[in-house]
Amino acid sequence: MPGIVVVGMQFGDESKGAVVDYMAKDVDMVVRFNGGANAGHTVVVGDLKLKFRLMPSGALRVKKLVIGNGVVVDPKVLLDEIEMVRNAGFEPDLLVSRKAHVVMPYHKIIDAGKVASSLGTTRRGIGPTYSDKMRRTEAIRVNDLVGDNFLEKLREVLKVKLHELLAFNIINDENELSEYIKRIYSEYSKYGDFLRPYTGNASILVNEALDDGETVLFEGAQGTLLDVDHGTYPYVTSSNPIAGGACVGVGVGPTKIDKVIGVAKAYTTRVGTGPFVTEIHGGLGDKIRERGGEYGTVTGRPRRCGWLDLPMLRYSIILSDISEIALRKLDVLEGIDSIKVCVAYEFNGEEREVMTPFVEELERCKPIYEELEGWEEMGPGSWERIARQGYEALPSQAKRYIEFIEEQLSVPIKMIGVGPKRETTIVR
Ligand code: IMP
Repeated sequence: MPGIVVVGMQFGDESKGAVVDYMAKDVDMVVRFNGGANAGHTVVVGDLKLKFRLMPSGALRVKKLVIGNGVVVDPKVLLDEIEMVRNAGFEPDLLVSRKAHVVMPYHKIIDAGKVASSLGTTRRGIGPTYSDKMRRTEAIRVNDLVGDNFLEKLREVLKVKLHELLAFNIINDENELSEYIKRIYSEYSKYGDFLRPYTGNASILVNEALDDGETVLFEGAQGTLLDVDHGTYPYVTSSNPIAGGACVGVGVGPTKIDKVIGVAKAYTTRVGTGPFVTEIHGGLGDKIRERGGEYGTVTGRPRRCGWLDLPMLRYSIILSDISEIALRKLDVLEGIDSIKVCVAYEFNGEEREVMTPFVEELERCKPIYEELEGWEEMGPGSWERIARQGYEALPSQAKRYIEFIEEQLSVPIKMIGVGPKRETTIVR
């Protein structure tokens, strides 16, 4: 019963989609367990480039796909993705948990408000939807959306939310409420009708698959440092991207997880506000951004770029018990004479090897770097050729970079990405 979890080790955008798509060829089921349409998982197959925000990235491998209860579902986005996958010539075999919560239009408006703006959220309604889940009296679940009592549920919930609807000018006065409910019902009941055949008891399905000896890949969205409990709070998302999130976000026992694969970029990026110890300001940071296409998949915002941060990766390894690493986007570092790697932080005159998540402390941490020799720019088509030939064909300095990281972390790097395509992944 191999249960494999794939998690991001940094601030999200580590190319987990490419790793999941690559691995999906050998698994039976791919399951998303956290986050929502704030994620942007890009999969490139030949000339086809699809961006998934909710659908598990194994969609193009025609595998059983599951969206777990830990995900917040924007039904319109999901419907569009189902159509996108169909248009690409695949019929998604998808099951959405009825326990998952639904992102409603007012959640997105509230998310674009002042508090959320100060955190630099993706404005996809993620925080407000998870807040309502925890409040319990103001939530709408997939079970409500596709059930017989959606209209009553909507009335009940929006009566409680009236104060918020007024505060965010979603409606101007109480008299507009029934019209507003009608409008939402007319749009969302159609989504409910469309999604109904795709919904069911995801927890039972996944557990049965594991008990039958199938291989299940749990796909995390975002990254460890955006975890609401373990990340750089409050500059985090509202879910748990660490490996334990797969247990809660699907309903599987921890002993059913056999392996955790951590995905990291060969450098670090962050989109949105919050501390970033190894950030590179100016020229080289811009060069990495351009070369790596470091712009948000969901929002298009430029990502902040910096050197690889090993205290961050050590922290991620501890929290998710990561036993192997997939290092992505190594090709982006070509043509840099000297590559820095942060091996520890200096804090109050002491060296720290493991990252602290506390923002006030992080802001005072100084990176301690080791410099490694870079490698020259490779010509067009070179990375594809190297990927075909395998690990030994990498420039010696690139191999040294990988082996240095492995020595520092004591965790093997088993997969190396040197481009966005399936064919540009090297497996050791
Ligand atoms: P939210 O998840 O939209 O509430 O945004 C909270 C923080 O997480 C912001 O800094 C976002 O930029 C960041 N964030 C959310 N999802 C992703 C992602 O998939 N990749 C990178 N950053 C993300």
